[in-house]
This record gives sequence, C-alpha cells and structure tokens, in this order.
Amino acid sequence: MTRLRRALVLGFFGLALTGMARADDAALGRALAGEVRELFRATCLECHGPDLASPEGEFGYVLDLPRMAADPELVVPGAPAMSELYLLILHDEMPGEDSDHGALSLIQKETVRRWIELGALAPEPAAEGSGDAGAMSGPPSPRRASLLDRSLRWLGELHGPAVHFPVALLVVAALAQLLTSTAAMVFCLRVAAVMAPLAAGFGWLNADYASFTAKSAALLAWHRWLGVATAIVAVLAWALSRKASPALRPVLILGAILVLVAGALGGGLSHGFSHYRW
Ligand code: HEC
Repeated sequence: MTRLRRALVLGFFGLALTGMARADDAALGRALAGEVRELFRATCLECHGPDLASPEGEFGYVLDLPRMAADPELVVPGAPAMSELYLLILHDEMPGEDSDHGALSLIQKETVRRWIELGALAPEPAAEGSGDAGAMSGPPSPRRASLLDRSLRWLGELHGPAVHFPVALLVVAALAQLLTSTAAMVFCLRVAAVMAPLAAGFGWLNADYASFTAKSAALLAWHRWLGVATAIVAVLAWALSRKASPALRPVLILGAILVLVAGALGGGLSHGFSHYRW
C-alpha cells in the first residue's frame, strides 16, 4: 500500500512538472514575440517600416505584431502552415531579393513558426522598448525572460545528464532479475523509479524550449511518449518488485526495451541519426 502511495506521489510530481511546462507556453510565446519583432526590425524595416511614405505591398506595420496577429490574411494564430507571413519567409520570398539581407536562417524561420504556433502573442511590455515612441525607433530591446522561464529552461537542460540513470538502471535491473540477483535488482529499481519520472519531466521541459521542425517534430513525439511510457513502466516495475510478482519479469524486459528505444530516438533528435552509422 505505502509502495502504491509513493508511486502515486511520484506520478503526481511528474504531472506537476508537465503542468508547469504547459502553463509556461504563454511566457515563451511572449518572449518569442520579442525576438520576432527584433528580427523584423533588422530585416523588414527598409521596405515595410512604419515611417516609409509608401511601404512595399502597402504593408507598413511589420513591427505591430498584435495587428498582424489579428489579420487572418497574414497570421492564423496556432497554425503557422496557414499563415501567409510565415509562408513568405519560409519560401524565401521575404525579405525580397532586393533586400540588404539574404533569406532568413533556419533558426530565424523557426522562431517565427514557433511564435505563431504558440498563439502569435504580443511581446512582453518590457520588450516594447522605452516609451511608446520608442516602440517605433528605439534600440533593439534585450530579451528578458522571467526567473521562472529561465529556471524551467535550465531544468530542461538537465534532461541529458538525468536520462543516463534510467537507461543504465533499467537495463541492469532486467539483467539482475534474469540472473536472480534480487537485491541488486531492487536497488536499481528503487533509484530508477525516482530518476525515470524526473528525467521524463526534464525532457518535457527541454522539448518546450527546443525548436524542432516538421520532420523532427514527429520524432520528438515518439521520443516524448516512449519516454513517458518508460517512466510509468519503471515505477510499475518498482511497485511489483517487492511482491515477487510473476508480472515483474515481462514488465522489466519491456522497461529495458522502452528505455533503449526512447534513448536511441533521443540521441537521434539531438545528434541526428547519422552519428549511429558505422
Ligand atoms: C527589399 C524590400 C523588402 C523587404 C526587405 C521585405 N519585403 Fe515584404 N514585400 C516587399 C514587396 C515588394 C512586397 C509586395 C509584393 C507583392 O505585392 O507582390 C512585399 C509584401 C509583403 C507581404 C504581403 C503584404 C500583404 O498584405 O499581402 C508581407 C506579409 C511581407 N512582405 C512580409 C515581409 C517580412 C516579414 C519581411 C522581413 C522578414 C519583409 N517582408 C521584408 C518587399 C520587401
């Protein structure tokens, strides 16, 4: 019973981390809005600036993100693929060939995509520049992330180091079980049951701050849910381990396979799959 209760507490902890990551989308969206505005300030103003007498395409409010976000002809919040503004820069039609800047980089495009995906929010007031006139011509304002935002981002960075624990522990626990080395197995599972949900929580945060485009987004989805499944199976194996349940062996083997597959996908996400090549 206490075993079950402790498993529930761990599960709750993981869920709480997930909830925090969700709630933080808005903060990230606003921070990205600040970046998008600075990007447009640097690359679009020569043709679409608010102080031009006749801006190109009669489009002279490229720094007014809320106005663009309210115009479905330009931006469909939540749907980058339907947003003309994003499609123009994605296909290198903007900034035009005559511009002083070349096409935007992949990362710059991704910043715009993610900003729209997260709802095309307005920038934080702090990123508006000083004074209302400053919003037009002031110097680029530094991006200011909140303490919570920075802390969550930092926790996300711990995903890499933390995942090594469940990867090794679950595999060793399965091995110990096959070799009937019960004490070693129980010890491994005890640590794995803490580290696997923690690593999954960090991973969730990490993904929220990463920029994965269409192809790797699908890979991320697989990695995310296999990772979450691994954490659940790790806690389940731990809960079963003291009961000498006959279900323990299959659950352990499943956990070892899950953690290896999730880990391989994670390696592919961060380093590309070519690094596994012979
Ligand atoms: C060298 C000049 C130049 C630069 C720089 C430039 N544009 Fe344009 N833009 C144009 C021209 C010219 C048009 C009108 C094209 C047309 O009507 O076919 C246009 C049209 C647009 C439109 C369509 C407006 C509408 O209402 O349909 C959008 C959106 C746009 N640009 C966004 C951008 C963004 C975002 C940037 C910066 C990343 C940018 N442009 C940089 C020249 C430029």
